[in-house]
Amino acid sequence: MSDNLPRRQVLRTAGTIGLGAAAAGVLHETATASPAGAASPADAAGWDHGRFEIRKEIFGRTPAGEQVDVYTFTNGRVTISMLTWGATLQRIETPDRRGKKENISLGFDNLEDYANLSPYFGATVGRYGNRIANGRFTLDGKTYQLPINNGANSLHGGTIGFDKKVWKAKAVRTGSAIGVAFSYVSPDGEMGYPGKLTSTVTYTLDKANRLRVEYHAVTDKATVVNLTNHVYFNLGGEGTGSIDDHILQLNAPAYTPVDATLIPTGQIAPVGGTPFDFRRPTAIGARIRDDHPQLVIGRGYDHNFVLDRAGSDGFRLAARAWEPDSGRSVTVHTTEPGVQFYTGNFLDGSFQGIGGKSYRQGDAFCLETQHFPDSPNHPNFPSTVLRPGQTYRSTTTFTFGTI
Ligand code: BGC
Repeated sequence: MSDNLPRRQVLRTAGTIGLGAAAAGVLHETATASPAGAASPADAAGWDHGRFEIRKEIFGRTPAGEQVDVYTFTNGRVTISMLTWGATLQRIETPDRRGKKENISLGFDNLEDYANLSPYFGATVGRYGNRIANGRFTLDGKTYQLPINNGANSLHGGTIGFDKKVWKAKAVRTGSAIGVAFSYVSPDGEMGYPGKLTSTVTYTLDKANRLRVEYHAVTDKATVVNLTNHVYFNLGGEGTGSIDDHILQLNAPAYTPVDATLIPTGQIAPVGGTPFDFRRPTAIGARIRDDHPQLVIGRGYDHNFVLDRAGSDGFRLAARAWEPDSGRSVTVHTTEPGVQFYTGNFLDGSFQGIGGKSYRQGDAFCLETQHFPDSPNHPNFPSTVLRPGQTYRSTTTFTFGTI
């Protein structure tokens, strides 16, 4: 690894933290961020409590022979695994209120399933998160056609989006946090988008159990950019069934209604008096089966929520969710103006996830912080245009805790 961390070589069995069997028994490098020689007890997975640690293993190979790595980093309490495939959050292990650790993010234990089956589980999505109508937009008088991969529309950057690329990765330590910086250079014209786009997305975990996701991109031609992460949460533990009983609070006074193909109509509709009002904590399942036409179109929630104004630090408190039984919670802050709240409506039980359980409709929820879907075709939405000389910056934090 090309970071400056002190390191030691340790032999651990990857299987104890549920990594792919291919990785088991590999000799890893472990970088510690605590003072050298400080004694601290190890937990069942071999991690030292109270220490930042990171290790890198081989996860698999693409059919073209490209190596895909898994980086696992911990602060001793929360342990996160990320793949260089799609800069993907593969596992997020957090303790419940009794201290029992479970993986709360849907995913797979092998690369083949990520490549062939994944509905963007944990992936970094780009160049444009969510839909662009008919895969078409006009910028500076020129019309661009993107690949159509979702009905009549282009979804999540097209057929081979950033979620299906092997990103370069580097372990990082930023003073009080540990994690991985991923980068990917998307050539001019890739998936129909203009401009060579150089993106870096840095995922770091701090001592306050906060996962910080910092996006950064520059281009050499005018283009559109909307990067997000597509992690699917089930705070009761991945594969434990419905999230109907999870409580959600969304700091959103409005949402963007959609047409039958899930493209925003352009309207910004107040949530008051509708099943879209989550300004007070409400069970996700409380109104999901209401006959509201927007819930019928989405088969549940699959909508962009318009967040409250940002504070002086540029961040908005977007959402908080918790699961009453385990007490596990996640709180989301973001610099983005919107969040796609998606209740896993298209999961249909047709494949097994990382823990051997199949995932069915409503078994997870996503909070994809973002600019609004189809913004390039809606002048009234905040702009997603990035020009040469400008820097795209966006930050979202996920704070894991218990109630
Ligand atoms: C979209 C859904 C889609 C899901 C997985 C979400 O961001 O809004 O409609 O099914 O991603 O692809």
